[in-house]
Amino acid sequence: GFTGQVALDGPSGTGKSSVARAVASRLGAAYLDTGAMYRAATVAVLDAGVDPEDAEAVAAVVAAARIEVGTAADTELVEVDGVDVAVRIRGAEVTRAVSAVSAVPSVRRRLVDQQRALVSAADAVVVEGRDIGTVVLPDATLKVYLTAAPEARAQRRAAQLGLTTPQEIAELAADLRRRDEYDSSRADSPLRPAEDAVVVDSTHLDREGVVDRVVELALSTV
Ligand code: C5P
Repeated sequence: GFTGQVALDGPSGTGKSSVARAVASRLGAAYLDTGAMYRAATVAVLDAGVDPEDAEAVAAVVAAARIEVGTAADTELVEVDGVDVAVRIRGAEVTRAVSAVSAVPSVRRRLVDQQRALVSAADAVVVEGRDIGTVVLPDATLKVYLTAAPEARAQRRAAQLGLTTPQEIAELAADLRRRDEYDSSRADSPLRPAEDAVVVDSTHLDREGVVDRVVELALSTV
């Protein structure tokens, strides 16, 4: 079977999370959702009443928070200081603020250290995020960069959230664009494919097609 690390990066709305979980299950590997860690840090910031754009205050809050995530593909354990925030991290308030929090260098250093420690405890692991192949695991066994056309990504997100009107879908598309722009243009660890990443475009593939492709790539490294 597969041993090593699969780094799965890409913008939001590509189906990355569900692909990463399914690939981990198929490979019998652990799974780490690094976005959930940045979202949990954002919960701590919001609960402290701190402005997400105030980098210094954000850094202090996150340094003091205990952030825990599970590494099983079939559960979603996310806690801040012992409190379950698995549902809250998916809410609109957190989604709006997370890019600002994750642009703070000391927040990234802290979470990257924690990510590397979690990864080193597993023989086989699928890690999803924005900077896994470029920064967190530059020697990952396999690096995949998942993309999709912006319209396909907005449609997919809309279906997930049960939004149907053209107005709602347009707002969603604008929000995805704003977050990608923020994530791609930040100074520390911007979103971009690693030079040795395999780019998989999911615009015309269903989830199973993408999962099959990534599993096949992973098994070809064995
Ligand atoms: O993947 P998800 O949408 O949950 O990620 C939420 C946000 O966390 C991203 O928009 C990005 O700002 C940040 N993030 C990051 N680096 C990662 C994972 C997520 O900066 N490795």
